[in-house]
Amino acid sequence: MDNRPIGFFDSGLGGLTCIPYLMRELPEEKIIYFGDTARTPYGSKATRTIRSFSMEIADFLVKSDVKMIVIACNTVSATCVYDLQQKFPQTPIIGIIEPTARYVGTYRGVKDKVGVIGTKVTITSHAYKDMIHMYNEKLDIVETPCPAFVPLIEEGIIDNEIMDLTIKYYMDSFVNDNDLDAIVLGCTHYPLIKKNIERLYPHLDIINPSDIVVGRIREVLDDRDGFASGSDFTNVFYASDLSENFINMIDKIFKEEETKVKFLNFDLEREISR
Ligand code: DGL
Repeated sequence: MDNRPIGFFDSGLGGLTCIPYLMRELPEEKIIYFGDTARTPYGSKATRTIRSFSMEIADFLVKSDVKMIVIACNTVSATCVYDLQQKFPQTPIIGIIEPTARYVGTYRGVKDKVGVIGTKVTITSHAYKDMIHMYNEKLDIVETPCPAFVPLIEEGIIDNEIMDLTIKYYMDSFVNDNDLDAIVLGCTHYPLIKKNIERLYPHLDIINPSDIVVGRIREVLDDRDGFASGSDFTNVFYASDLSENFINMIDKIFKEEETKVKFLNFDLEREISR
């Protein structure tokens, strides 16, 4: 048993999309989450910049005594998961792409055509395509970047026509010309527009890494006898800039557990409890 929290991080609020799945599958687990809202988006930045931001955050989480770190960001997972693992060998660190690639490679049939959408960095790295092919080299994988999704989602522009038009702008010809059967939401912000994508492309099977990664968390904890039980740790959400949308998103996720969440503006060290 290990009652220390699990550390999660993302460039912003996207990584929060993993949390409801964690709570459903492993309800005893507690978390420390860091969203780098002051420096988001990462998906159009240079790899060395993403690496240096990620090192700072992982260092902070390790010092906070987390039992493992989940990189709840595809962009970071595509570029520096091995650097982070090397720098912090004492803490298990998992990315979100590898478990998803294993799932796709194992469960999709060879006749399926699978699309991957993500940030520019994730897509140009071909991390999804390469890793899926490690599990099933015959699968037909196509990829396309959708760089305007993250800024719109961070602004809370989700349930409206602007988002729908933006989705159609990036995805219409990608989905239709490639005759896709399934799509991987290769950015942890995208589950927040899953309903829009389902409505616009009802025939697509949607593969959600924010859900799939919980299976890998379970494996890591199981290997180490590291599950929590009866922990009284309070979940903590850090944001490098405490935006209203970040707070609203946490409110949505934790609507039934209001007293168990507190926020801390990381730079200002200003704690806001409720
Ligand atoms: N949630 C991050 C990802 O999964 C968003 C990247 C960004 O900040 O551009 O890729």
